[in-house]
Amino acid sequence: MSEPFIAVDAVSKRFDPRVSLGDQIAGALGGAVERRYVRAVDGVSLEVAPGEVLGLVGESGCGKSTLGRMIAGILPPTSGAVRVAGKPVMSPGRHPRKQTTRVQMVFQDPYASLDPRMRVGDIVAEGPLVHRLVTKADARAYVANWLTMVGLDAGAAQRYPHQFSGGQRQRIAVARALAMRPDALVCDEPVASLDVSIQAQVLNLFLRLRRELGLTMLFISHHLGVVRHVSDRVAIMYLGRIVEIGGANAIYSNPLHPYTKALLASVPQLQLEDGSDVAFAPIQGELPSPLSPPPGCHFHLRCPFAEARCRVDIPDLRPAGDGRWAACHLFEKIAKTV
Ligand SMILES: Nc1ncnc2c1ncn2[C@@H]1O[C@H](COP(=O)(O)OP(=O)(O)O)[C@@H](O)[C@H]1O
Ligand code: SF4
Ligand SMILES: [Mg+2]
Repeated sequence: MSEPFIAVDAVSKRFDPRVSLGDQIAGALGGAVERRYVRAVDGVSLEVAPGEVLGLVGESGCGKSTLGRMIAGILPPTSGAVRVAGKPVMSPGRHPRKQTTRVQMVFQDPYASLDPRMRVGDIVAEGPLVHRLVTKADARAYVANWLTMVGLDAGAAQRYPHQFSGGQRQRIAVARALAMRPDALVCDEPVASLDVSIQAQVLNLFLRLRRELGLTMLFISHHLGVVRHVSDRVAIMYLGRIVEIGGANAIYSNPLHPYTKALLASVPQLQLEDGSDVAFAPIQGELPSPLSPPPGCHFHLRCPFAEARCRVDIPDLRPAGDGRWAACHLFEKIAKTV
């Protein structure tokens, strides 16, 4: 891979949840209270090359948003480091210093992420004016350019967010991010809150932006099918760890990790402009709590291939050829038997 634009090195994030009722009672009775943390992200390393789109997939609660926020520089890691264009984004434990503008974020919910009291034009112009990317005199034309880029009418600038549909609001959120002239976008489930019929339209917007602007992207979704057509490579996350990463085609045609296999057991639902389908995949069983993750391989309680060592030894990410890596003790053996 060429020099990475985004480099994530052994990054972890722990959250300190409020003391539980059980702990309070134990404390009141004089018992020992063991301090437990939510291990939202647990030693993740990955790289994204300039202009590359990396899909990040896993069930709700596995740590995708937390990782995305650390990459975008809006959440400090507990340990490890994120570098963007060779420079550290944040140091562990410290609060955001000067927020980087090179990575912008598009959030899941365009209803919550746009200030309802501001006109769309002001929403899009706010960041660029603060960071002096545009003068007041040029702001109007600047905003019109970005609104057009995301498929909205320039006249949208005069209106308020509530006058737009969910899909249009997400386009406004994308215009706001692009107006900061970022080199990279972290898109956190950008279609998850939209009607199924609108999801394909907004995904097509990302396909076009990718083509026309050559942006580096981390594209997060809990559905493998959603990231398939926008991603060069895909990373699969389970309970805070990356369990498989590699080229999108290889992952979809020949998944190695049992969790990826389970995610892929899915039903086609959406049709994109290029004629391809987008699939959705509910998976059996529940994600264990990140407060007390299972020992060994985190997936062993749900894995049909689990052996005794899976309950004890943590599987490292190991190379599987062609730039692919999988964190499973048995992926070679499973590939031969399935
Ligand atoms: N600010 C927070 N405080 C405590 N726990 C959190 C916080 N943010 C996320 N978590 C927990 O961290 C885990 C990962 O969350 P998140 O990154 O939002 O996952 P995902 O985006 O994959 O759904 C979850 O168990 C979630 O409840
Ligand atoms: S290490 Fe074991 S439990 Fe984990 S995915 Fe592989 S076979 Fe399943
Ligand atoms: Mg999330």
